[in-house]
Amino acid sequence: MAFCFNFPKDSEDNDHNTDDIQLEAPVSKKKKLEQFVTEFKEIRVEDCKTDYPYDLKVNTYQLTDNITVSCYDAGAIEEILKKDKDHSSSVVKATSCHSDLVPNVYEGGLTVWECGIDLASYIAKEVDFTDKMVLELGSGAGIPGICAMVCGAKVVHFQDYNEEVLKEYTIPNVTQLNMDEDVRCTCRYFSGDWSQFSDKIDKEQRYDIILTAETIYNPDNYQKLHDVFTSQLDKHGTIYLAAKSNYFGVGGGTGLFEDFTNKKGQFSCKICKTIEAGVPREIMQLKWKDTNIDKLTEKT
Ligand SMILES: C[S@@+](CC[C@H](N)C(=O)[O-])C[C@H]1O[C@@H](n2cnc3c(N)ncnc32)[C@H](O)[C@@H]1O
Repeated sequence: MAFCFNFPKDSEDNDHNTDDIQLEAPVSKKKKLEQFVTEFKEIRVEDCKTDYPYDLKVNTYQLTDNITVSCYDAGAIEEILKKDKDHSSSVVKATSCHSDLVPNVYEGGLTVWECGIDLASYIAKEVDFTDKMVLELGSGAGIPGICAMVCGAKVVHFQDYNEEVLKEYTIPNVTQLNMDEDVRCTCRYFSGDWSQFSDKIDKEQRYDIILTAETIYNPDNYQKLHDVFTSQLDKHGTIYLAAKSNYFGVGGGTGLFEDFTNKKGQFSCKICKTIEAGVPREIMQLKWKDTNIDKLTEKT
């Protein structure tokens, strides 16, 4: 699925290549983005809608012979939002102007993107989640995080920019469609910008596994995402990131993010799977470099 972006057309803002990659956004651009940063908030399940009609369309993803994850149909949820809301829905506003993205407001979370399915299919086969503490960043539908939950994770935290996406989509997907009596997992949900996450989340424990799919389209956000990785990943932890090799029109992609990460020097990075397509899709694995593990302090 291609993105329909609404980024500023300013060529300076969109011109990124791997040769002159900037580790920091230019000051003028940073200021512009900071003005719109969405505050961190924990969304509680009891504050969310739990009464979707029993016959609302559900899509099912068979990840392995034994692991299936279900998700409400995004179009069906959008129709409900259009009827229910007094024109205040940021999702409806974005979709009604045919955009998957209103920067710093709605960033495409009410859709199942193909790399989310790639990531869930990969981790369902390759990753042992038993008793693990997991974070999904930019979760949207939350399919990789739900996969971790049904595969035995002890804790899954879902994070998304947009509060409405978490309330109307992620939480119903988790609690109404995939949480049953066999699942012993504590889930929590956080909205807001990545720049807020590390300061505001309780500082109990780092995550064993961080999952993220289709979140590296905009190079302006690489520093924030990398900061969450460095502040939140356990010293023995692993990050699985799924994305397209190139997001045309915005400039991001797996190659650019790998270059960024290598320049930062904290993590070793490898591609563990490539899905050949018109625009190839990749799954990357990041782990702390041995030299950096010794410097890591435990979260207190
Ligand atoms: C294209 S959607 C992908 C959703 C989902 N992971 C999937 O693959 O279906 C990108 C997601 O990343 C989140 N996101 C992007 N930039 C973010 C930021 N700076 N802070 C927090 N979340 C962000 C958006 O809210 C959105 O849900």
